[in-house]
Amino acid sequence: MKSYLTTPIYYVNAAPHIGHAHTSTMADILKRNRRMLGWDVRLSTGCDEHGQKNQEAAEKSGLTPQAYLDQRSEEFRKVFDLLQVEYDYFVRTTRPAHKAEVAAAEQRLFDAGLIVQKAYSGNYCPGCEQFKKDSDLNQEGRCPDHPSIDLQQIDETNYFFKLEPFRQRLIDHIEANPDFVDPPVYRGELLQMLRDPLEDLSISRPKARVTLGIELPFDTSHVTYVWFDALLNYLTNLDWPAPGYEEWWAQSHHLIGKDILKTHGVYWPIMLMALDIPLPRQLVVHGHWLGEGGVKMSKTLGNVVDPIEVVEAWGTDALRYYLARNMRSDSDSQISMESIRQTYNAELVNKFGNLLSRVGKFARARFEGVVPAPGAFDADDEAIRAQTLAAVSKFAVPIRLAELPACLAALVEACDELNGYVARNAPWDLFKDPATLERCRTVIYISLDCQRLLFEAMRIITPTAADKALSMLRPGTPADTIWTPELGVMAAGDALGEIETLFPRAD
Ligand code: ME8
Ligand code: MG
Repeated sequence: MKSYLTTPIYYVNAAPHIGHAHTSTMADILKRNRRMLGWDVRLSTGCDEHGQKNQEAAEKSGLTPQAYLDQRSEEFRKVFDLLQVEYDYFVRTTRPAHKAEVAAAEQRLFDAGLIVQKAYSGNYCPGCEQFKKDSDLNQEGRCPDHPSIDLQQIDETNYFFKLEPFRQRLIDHIEANPDFVDPPVYRGELLQMLRDPLEDLSISRPKARVTLGIELPFDTSHVTYVWFDALLNYLTNLDWPAPGYEEWWAQSHHLIGKDILKTHGVYWPIMLMALDIPLPRQLVVHGHWLGEGGVKMSKTLGNVVDPIEVVEAWGTDALRYYLARNMRSDSDSQISMESIRQTYNAELVNKFGNLLSRVGKFARARFEGVVPAPGAFDADDEAIRAQTLAAVSKFAVPIRLAELPACLAALVEACDELNGYVARNAPWDLFKDPATLERCRTVIYISLDCQRLLFEAMRIITPTAADKALSMLRPGTPADTIWTPELGVMAAGDALGEIETLFPRAD
């Protein structure tokens, strides 16, 4: 089974932020999940380097555009490396082969009469890199996504791509493929966007205004509208149009924030229809992180969460865990340094870390460093084993991004249950009496084996800590490539590793 997971390619007008970290980390989690099922997965992430706002940022930096883009895209790459995002493609839209194919696609659409020239006058939002209709604006007449940015009144001659001829076909596709957009709330929003006739889409900018872009092959006084260029990255990564891309393309899932639903759900499918290419398999949409107080993060409010700062304070796993655990797909979610710290302490340190340390250290000390031989299982034992297996089994199928927080919640609950099981059975008391020694061995055996399962599931979320925990529980065992959750894999007499602190407490 193949899977091609993509993230948006991010504007490089400023440093990478928590939102960029989020989508790329989620794509990595889905990649690791599918890879553990034996799938062949490719992941793309990267940078959108063209357009007006990147150009303005380059000008402000005092660097040449190329030097600016090189520096910023390296900064993004470093953040994704730091977050252990295992990307197969790191996109830069200034790559010559990408530019050539974008231009060729435009020539085809121009020749087919789907791109036409006309004068245009409208409000441009540099934040969105899009023209805005009055109905797109908020009550104050500003862009709802960028209320602090002044709209620019622009009168110019542009090239336009015809959308309306394809509207009904797109509606039909969405209706025939109920899982084209996930979660369903965004499918409804998309259908809403397609209710009224679609205006032609402006797909060029005169070079007098924007130079950082790809020249139109049929009119070199214009560059391509940044979105037209950016969206095609999903195909040019796969060396489209050279044969070989089709199998991957058929299994393409675009992870996006809800801010770019229209570009991915309306413009992109119509571009593909016009180019006679099948539509992507699915749009996987998530909500937005808001700062403390439920407001947009901003430097002035001081509620910005910087991914590098989080990693430096508490590590990559702490951030990956928080993002996966707390993002809701159908609404916005809040994030702050303090909530990350609290979640880390309350769950990773107090639940997963403590359990390993208590049970692991006890087993090493009392049973000569090996897994003790269990006796017969009673009903309590069978129940905890079944609960653990049920929780980790949610990780042994292709996870829907929208379900990820619930999957993780089930794992935390299983860890709670296991902590309760250990407390209830009090193996340290059982150990004292020869009559209950076998019972003690059973309880320890089960707690070790169940934790082993929990950490196997956690590998996709907190790869470093999970591997470390597994190397304590089953030293020398190579991580299997294809994972099937199974109880009873640990055998009596197997050596345990040195039990070290898994998650140091965060103050
Ligand atoms: O739109 N919470 O780039 P962009 C969660 N270049 N995710 C967030 C977020 C937040 N607060 N803020 C941003 C562009 N994101 C175009 C994309 S794709 C062909 C071109 C994430 O830098 C989320 O994935 O504005 C969102 O869709 C994306 O970053 C927008 O990044
Ligand atoms: Mg944006």
